[in-house]
Amino acid sequence: MKAIILSRHGGPEVLRYGDAPDPVAGPGEVVVDIHAASVNAADYKVRNGGGIYDTTFPHILGRDFSGVVSALGAGVSAFSPGDAVFGVTDRGIEGAYAEKLAISAALLARKPDRLGHVEAAAVALAGLTALWAIEDTGRLQRGETVLIQGGAGGVAGFAIQLAKHLGAQVITTASAANHDYVRQLGADRAIDYRNEDFTTLVSDCDMVFDTVGDEVQLRSFKVLRPGGRLVWIAPAPVGSHPPRTDVDVLRPPVTRDRAHLERILHLLESGAVRLPAITRYALADAAEAHRVSESRHLRGKLVLEVR
Ligand SMILES: NC(=O)c1ccc[n+]([C@@H]2O[C@H](COP(=O)([O-])OP(=O)(O)OC[C@H]3O[C@@H](n4cnc5c(N)ncnc54)[C@H](OP(=O)(O)O)[C@@H]3O)[C@@H](O)[C@H]2O)c1
Repeated sequence: MKAIILSRHGGPEVLRYGDAPDPVAGPGEVVVDIHAASVNAADYKVRNGGGIYDTTFPHILGRDFSGVVSALGAGVSAFSPGDAVFGVTDRGIEGAYAEKLAISAALLARKPDRLGHVEAAAVALAGLTALWAIEDTGRLQRGETVLIQGGAGGVAGFAIQLAKHLGAQVITTASAANHDYVRQLGADRAIDYRNEDFTTLVSDCDMVFDTVGDEVQLRSFKVLRPGGRLVWIAPAPVGSHPPRTDVDVLRPPVTRDRAHLERILHLLESGAVRLPAITRYALADAAEAHRVSESRHLRGKLVLEVR
């Protein structure tokens, strides 16, 4: 099969389009012929060597995808060859920047015909992460106020809509060029983080959802009410400590399962959440997608079209 092969850590130029062995479905697994694979910030971190997992080479990146089942391993009865599915690889496992992927059937959900493969790939991990952060971990309630850091990004774009759907007041940070975008997603207020200091504009939030990290996370503590929650998916500076003890600091586990993927579908189909802005690349152009992802100023999601 064709794949993007990583043979060593380095810049985007180390991503090579080439041939890799076809995967084989083990017990409980299926082979998915991938049609679209999402690009996530984690991918350039793994590529650079800064990821949290040890990488053995050659390695194939890619965590969320959409495609069609082409082979079944022993014991799989939930799917048949030809079924359209989407999903997220289990923690510590990658391989979606490729024409085929072997994955546990339990981690897949059926993709409805009305949702395209590119769109399904775009919402899988971003949606899963937002669900875990806002609902399961942050337990955001109707009438609460949440500050979502980095509103124009992939996870935050889903989170803004989910928070609004749950009945929260949603404040977000984004550069001015993205304010119309985040307002269309449902943000009640957008703060231009390049020219405004959110710590002087916002206070007494029930929850902050931090998708930016570093010093943004440390400064976010200032805007929480006593007893508030700081939910994060991008880390604070190495060696730093939470500057307050009267708030909860929570990291969502982002466990992969079919139930959360089906919740994403339900939110999309009910109109509670709509698709993010999506920029498409051919699989062979993964390096270009990585340059954009690593700039950290993309809008919405980047998706590789595989077939
Ligand atoms: N399972 C997990 O724990 C998990 C899952 C997914 C992602 N993540 C992590 O979450 C982070 C976000 O990922 P993502 O893919 O959702 O986002 P992304 O698309 O990589 O985020 C880029 C966005 O961040 C915004 N941004 C950059 N600096 C900012 C700042 N100082 N203040 C406010 N906004 C800023 C940019 O908006 P402007 O262009 O307007 O500046 C851009 O839209 C990454 O670190 C990723 O590794 C973790």
